[in-house]
Amino acid sequence: MTAPVGVFDSGVGGLSVAREIRRALPSEHLLYVADTAYVPYGDRGDDEVRARTLAIGEWIQSQGAKVLVVACNTASGAALEALRERLAIPVIGLEPALKPAVRQTRNGRVGVMATSGTLRSARFQRLVDNYADGVQVVRDPCPGLADLVEDGLLAGPELAERMDAYVAPLRESGVDTVVLGCTHYVFVRDAVREALGPDVLLLDSGEAIARRTRQILADAGALEGGGPGSLRVLTTGDPAEAAPIVHRLWGEPQQVERLEI
Ligand code: DGL
Repeated sequence: MTAPVGVFDSGVGGLSVAREIRRALPSEHLLYVADTAYVPYGDRGDDEVRARTLAIGEWIQSQGAKVLVVACNTASGAALEALRERLAIPVIGLEPALKPAVRQTRNGRVGVMATSGTLRSARFQRLVDNYADGVQVVRDPCPGLADLVEDGLLAGPELAERMDAYVAPLRESGVDTVVLGCTHYVFVRDAVREALGPDVLLLDSGEAIARRTRQILADAGALEGGGPGSLRVLTTGDPAEAAPIVHRLWGEPQQVERLEI
């Protein structure tokens, strides 16, 4: 059996990371789990997010995965250390792309759009303490925005109006660089750009995570040799409901299986 690359998110947002992994590593077999029954993680307590993340991580490992990519900033913030202790396979976590944002800001003001779970995490605070010296970091929790993506609201006037409200604190603070610190938000990048204007630089972590995944597999001599890769998608929610949005975000029809955890 070929060992898959496990990818996990609270919902469909992590497909933005899976897409980058597919681009960088087209021969790999991706095993994607969306914990749709518990989305959004951003509004849940740390203990619950940690318990879900550990349970799903263990399941993915039990499927023979050679690496686990936690394609969720919120789950990484709440559970990365615990997951690394629990699992035998390498675990790659996500964090908002604050480091590149601090390097690239011209006016010393950076915005971070992320869930409240991510923004209150010790992991995020460490990132700010270690890398954002002298830079103003404007935290922008966006309650409900991940749900809009889950519901397929990816463009149009309703999203534009809501996005305007989401980014108001960023506009008011005059940030010139904004981090999309939740994997769902990458799918509404155009709406964020519309709301903030063309001069604000938008950054996310997807490409960096794909490079890191390649590096880890290369170091372990575990890269697939060639040939076409594949994607298998499972949801803890209703597969019939998930399939259309997975299709839209992935760009091709995709069977979705039910996972009981
Ligand atoms: N996609 C997740 C992240 O990157 C969060 C969405 C949610 O609240 O579940 O943080």
